[in-house]
Amino acid sequence: MEKFIVKKSKGLSGQVKISGSKNAALPILAAALLCSEPVRIDNVPTLTDIDVMLDLLRCFGAEIKPCGGMLTIDCRNTVNSIPDYRVTKKIRASFLLAGALLGRFGFCSLPLPGGCSIGLRPIDLHLKGFAAMGAKIATEHGLVTIKAKKLHGSSIYLDFPSVGATENIMLAAVLAEGRTFLNNCATEPEIVDLAGFLNAMGAKIEGAGTDSMTIEGVKELHGCTYKIIPDRIEAGTYMLMAAAVRDSEIRITNVIPQHISPIIHKLTETGIQVITGDNFIRVISGREIHNTDIKTLPYPGFPTDLQAQFMALMTTGTGSGLVKETVFENRFMYVAELNRMGADIKIDGRSAIVNGVKHLSGTNVKATDLRAGAALIIAALTAEGQTEIGEICHIDRGYVNIEKKLTDIGVDIKRIKEGDDGECTE
Ligand code: UD1
Repeated sequence: MEKFIVKKSKGLSGQVKISGSKNAALPILAAALLCSEPVRIDNVPTLTDIDVMLDLLRCFGAEIKPCGGMLTIDCRNTVNSIPDYRVTKKIRASFLLAGALLGRFGFCSLPLPGGCSIGLRPIDLHLKGFAAMGAKIATEHGLVTIKAKKLHGSSIYLDFPSVGATENIMLAAVLAEGRTFLNNCATEPEIVDLAGFLNAMGAKIEGAGTDSMTIEGVKELHGCTYKIIPDRIEAGTYMLMAAAVRDSEIRITNVIPQHISPIIHKLTETGIQVITGDNFIRVISGREIHNTDIKTLPYPGFPTDLQAQFMALMTTGTGSGLVKETVFENRFMYVAELNRMGADIKIDGRSAIVNGVKHLSGTNVKATDLRAGAALIIAALTAEGQTEIGEICHIDRGYVNIEKKLTDIGVDIKRIKEGDDGECTE
């Protein structure tokens, strides 16, 4: 296991280049299974979650080669098989293979994903979509088996605009017979990116990015070259880091500002100056942060994946702020760690009230999940002395080269090895 030692920072300055989006890359990699010609994918982030998805694709016989900064994925000779739970449980996105395998082979058998540290995370909406397209579903001994001789288009309404369910249904529908209407679906940029990739392979998807999508099934897909969008959550995290450290000025490049408009608006409310250009954002912090309220919502609302980082920012702001989490039922586990650093946060069900304190103080804390880990780094940047953050394997799941990117903007952060290698699961 490794840990980070982070020292209190003075004003951050310099430039951070954002990597490709993890949450766009995962479904896009799964989608490569649908195609029997090689595809070339650019801007795939080098992250442990991505390595797990690539290992899973290899289990099905995919050949994966780096080529001029891109990845070539050749799924010509894939075979259907049951992946090992010890691998699938590392990333919940492994369940996205269901839609792709179903589309390609009309059959899949996958370990049921369990809950995780942020919630129960059922897959009922994914299964509801597959069933509406004619699949038969059976769950036994921890495996979910889904079969359909031929999937057919259908009209599907999601009770909640689940990102994963929308993606899985899209994957299953592109090679189905006839037209699928997907209503109340997710509208996240990662959905639009998946549709872009599928359409580049010859799929016929309309309406991605709105709450109703139409997917006209096609007979087969063909090879393509596709570039993944920048990671809006990584960009938002660096914005919040610069905002947290007084007198900072950083420039974030390779970013689509429109994808992080809630963060831009909410940071502006706290008194932080945010300047946007075509593909860059400048964040300029002053002497004070005025705490505000946030409520997480599906896109284009405030992203739940930036809730913990925003809370960390407000720990040393002036006044109090209310944080409402409406997407996941258990996304405040990290609050105890922030309070150990001297924060004043009270939780009441799915809400938390943060009362700004003068300063935090560094101590030993541990990352309970990926975004919680990022929140602890934000807190550590402003805490007196030094903070030791354990279980950073969670952070490595979602932030490419984080210590290099942070060092480049003036953060004193070191990675230290401690004890034996542990296992990191979502
Ligand atoms: C994706 C993102 C994750 C992000 C989340 C919400 C990836 C790999 N992960 O996760 O980082 O935090 O979107 O923006 O892209 N739900 C059900 N039944 C279902 C499916 C979901 O009740 O069948 C519930 C979940 O328990 C959760 C809510 O819907 O409370 C949102 O989940 P969902 O949008 O599906 O998130 P993920 O796709 O798992």
